[in-house]
Amino acid sequence: MTAFLWGAATSSHQIEGNNIHNDWWDWESQGNIEGGEGSGLTCDHWNRFAEDLDLARDLGLNSYRFSVEWSRIEPECGRWNKEALDWYENLIGECEKRNLIPMLTLHHFTTPLWFAREGGFTTEKSANWFAGYVKRVVERVGKRVPLWCTLNEPNTLVVGQYIASYMPPATYSPRSVSKASRNLLRAHVQAYDIIHSKIQKREGPFRDHPIAVGIAHNMIDFHPLRTLHPIDRMVTSLFRRFYNRSWPDAVTGNEQHFGVLGIIPMAAQVPQARGRKTVDFLGVNYYTRVFVACRPFNHGDSPDLFPTASSSPVGIVFSKKGDRLSDLGWAIHPTGLGDMCHFLKGYGVPLYITENGIADHDDDLRPDYLFSHLTQVAQAITEGIDLRGYFHWSLLDNFEWVKGFGPRFGLCAVDYKTQKRSIRRSGQLYREIIAAHGYSAPSVSTLETLCNQESL
Ligand code: FCB
Repeated sequence: MTAFLWGAATSSHQIEGNNIHNDWWDWESQGNIEGGEGSGLTCDHWNRFAEDLDLARDLGLNSYRFSVEWSRIEPECGRWNKEALDWYENLIGECEKRNLIPMLTLHHFTTPLWFAREGGFTTEKSANWFAGYVKRVVERVGKRVPLWCTLNEPNTLVVGQYIASYMPPATYSPRSVSKASRNLLRAHVQAYDIIHSKIQKREGPFRDHPIAVGIAHNMIDFHPLRTLHPIDRMVTSLFRRFYNRSWPDAVTGNEQHFGVLGIIPMAAQVPQARGRKTVDFLGVNYYTRVFVACRPFNHGDSPDLFPTASSSPVGIVFSKKGDRLSDLGWAIHPTGLGDMCHFLKGYGVPLYITENGIADHDDDLRPDYLFSHLTQVAQAITEGIDLRGYFHWSLLDNFEWVKGFGPRFGLCAVDYKTQKRSIRRSGQLYREIIAAHGYSAPSVSTLETLCNQESL
């Protein structure tokens, strides 16, 4: 019986520092980040990885999710950087020494600049380029990595790039949403097949852990703003279908529906993904609940409701009066996590929570956030859901994309001036929670007992 995975997650660009060859670095240098910031050295994890993995070990984690930076491995098309591969191989070795099962993400939002300049995932050649990179990574470290996420949040990526314009290239283009979704699916399928066909002889302390490949899928708990309003309800169901369902459907061999009637043209089908499962698990990245609303709409706070395009007939409302909010204004809504797991159960593949966390500079909300979301995990398991691990976002404070360094998501705080790390109270609590469970799955009663002791 494999242990439940108690982990934390990070991504290359957000923590490593000096990722100068990717599209985000370029976009940051054009002044697109809040406060004019750039990722710069961020946590300097490239040099401080050992200390950071020590923190993970000290928290008592038995798994660590990180991403490999494609732009380091292939800074120019076809030029392979051996030192970067060495670095990741060493990182995996360091995980092994600390008994941290690696979960390796191959793509977490950033791409090499040369690739982005060719059109990124909107171009036909993109999937083959991605596959070339995946082969190198798999050849080098595949034997030692049991868990793989091919893509992180492909749904968030295409929306951020081509609809909401907060990720490079930030162009409004519904057609690009469908093209990129299709090519991301092709890229995913190729990566899935490469991982399963290329890794034959396993090595290292985790060699008996079965290889499992999945995606880390962002899910938002969408609700109609006006519960009984037929148009709000209809649009909410379109959001759920496009954002929450289309990827799980596609990677489990079901219908491919990357499109929204009248808004985003339906993407062409990917035959290689039809009628077969191309994931061994689904990873869930869950943070919050939002409300969907349509014009005509007369509500006191309506100007804030249509943030992306004031002419847009459809808007998202991040919270309602009375909600407890993170520093980013995201509502804390733990039951959404349970609901997402119940929804995904129908796909018949194991689940991992690959991300869940809160921007909370002062760490006053994170302890409760942790307890309440883990309770949802525990409950889902009791209800028969095959949920195998929980990765908190994030191990460390880091560069939060367009929001820069303001939002603090870390179980460990980072002082960016001195690069000093310190475990937050929520980090200590996570350690106690893990210790109380001894690497078995979370249980509602243990969590309740601990929570009462903490009198949160
Ligand atoms: C997720 C991203 C991750 C981080 C968190 C807060 O959508 O995957 O990189 O930014 O949000």
